[in-house]
Amino acid sequence: MSFDLSVLNNSERIIYELRSLYTKFGYKPFKMSKFEEYDLYGSNKDFLVSENCITFTDSDGRLLALKPDVTFSIIKNLDDSVSGVQKVYYNENVYRVTKKAGGFSEIMQTGVECMGDITDDEICEVINLAARSLYAISENYVLDISHMGILSGLFTAMDLTEGNKTELISAVAEKNTGVITNLCASFGVGEALTNKLLDILGAYGTPTEVLPKLSAAVVNAEMQNAYNELCNVAQKLVNAGYEKNINIDCSVVNDMSYYNGIVFKGFIQGVPVSVLSGGRYDKLMERVNKKAGAIGFAVYLDEVDRILENQQEDVAANSNDDGYLNVALPKGRLGEKVYEMFEKSGFECPQIHEKNRRLIFENPEKKVRYFWVKPSDVAIYVERGAADIGVAGKDILLEYSPDVYELLDLNIGKCRMCVAGKKEFTDNGTSTLRVATKFTNIAKSYYADKCRDIDIIKLNGSIEIAPILGLSDVIVDIVETGATLLENGLEPKETIVNISARLISNKAGYKFKSAMIDKLRDSLALIVEENK
Ligand code: PRP
Repeated sequence: MSFDLSVLNNSERIIYELRSLYTKFGYKPFKMSKFEEYDLYGSNKDFLVSENCITFTDSDGRLLALKPDVTFSIIKNLDDSVSGVQKVYYNENVYRVTKKAGGFSEIMQTGVECMGDITDDEICEVINLAARSLYAISENYVLDISHMGILSGLFTAMDLTEGNKTELISAVAEKNTGVITNLCASFGVGEALTNKLLDILGAYGTPTEVLPKLSAAVVNAEMQNAYNELCNVAQKLVNAGYEKNINIDCSVVNDMSYYNGIVFKGFIQGVPVSVLSGGRYDKLMERVNKKAGAIGFAVYLDEVDRILENQQEDVAANSNDDGYLNVALPKGRLGEKVYEMFEKSGFECPQIHEKNRRLIFENPEKKVRYFWVKPSDVAIYVERGAADIGVAGKDILLEYSPDVYELLDLNIGKCRMCVAGKKEFTDNGTSTLRVATKFTNIAKSYYADKCRDIDIIKLNGSIEIAPILGLSDVIVDIVETGATLLENGLEPKETIVNISARLISNKAGYKFKSAMIDKLRDSLALIVEENK
């Protein structure tokens, strides 16, 4: 019987290709039920991308959950008494809370798991399959690879607590050099080791470009072993012809309590989020008492599908990706200062000085395009990939936690996030504190850290009026000169955090325009230094 491929829609076609690919490499299909006992996830919640599960009670009283993850179900069924490796692939829906959906959504996941005696050969095979899976979607793909042992070895040398590591890892994932420097200083880490971490993160590119830089940063046996393994695997991938599509990026991190070796993430040009994620998870196997190593990955087709559907043919050729660097600038005085810095950095766009009400400007010669957007919207444009980079206040980044790289503190737009109230008000802690603010997440997390019970009142502007009219006891708001507080009979009581404007980048966009973005960041960094 012949099979007419033209009847398949885009994601069905990709799934069909991936199934054929995985089968060719000896992977067997793994079929599972839509739900599992909740206990399977309950004790390992931090392994899951989103902690929440949709649960229900079975007729016999057992608590069940709609699968938020496939890996657990596969390893639960693994017979670890079998020698060699067991290789499976799956194509399943999982049910997770996603930021984009603002609640639960059904996500189609396809992937492979390879479990048993894992050697470099299995690692290379799985990464090779990851690269080929991305290629099945588009030839314009990048697979970023790292090794958890590099960071973990460096953290051992830094003598960090588990809490310190967690804080540092989230700054690493954002490539946030400013926060990394500050955290290292506050953890008592010396300059030499801090610089090693910054060097490791600053190195992004092909294995040939990056591996020598990583080698120079090795400080102990744990790092050396991880480096050797990464080198070995990268060399095999280069020999197999993947040099153009494979980058080493130590900001690719997964939870250290589950992942222990090579980790990787895949990106398709024109898709604003990573579409593939995987790694070696022997530690998870240990936690569920399986005597086997494991490596695998999942491909997320949702974003890809939308783009392929909107744009019938090739992803890159049809995406808004025309080689321009797309920059979202905050409209207003701060934005003008920011643009001046960009102009000085060699990314000028004379059109922008014309007196008109246009919002988009481009310079074809420099291949740069600027958009004026509302300051609080910059992070959304960047996170969703409508802009590759942008400049947003740290207040907005703290409030909305967009999944972006924070590349540079521009040291302008400086102000502080404060608790303020009437001069005569003191918080005696006897009743729930009424807090009016635009920044509800910042306020909630500040008072949660202090274990202070609050009643949060969300306002959209002119926050200073709230305590005057008795709507709240205090406000949490931005203070720049302090004039607004003073003229309204209020005073700052506590500083929550210092704020300034930050250069941010879409994580996927960075993969395809890193040369341009790095050049801009480096020039801006020089200007920031000059302005100090
Ligand atoms: C911000 C902030 C304060 C004011 C502080 O308001 O919310 O009201 O600036 O500046 P100052 O310390 O220099 O007086 P914004 O102008 O953004 O307007 P908003 O009332 O809409 O928040």
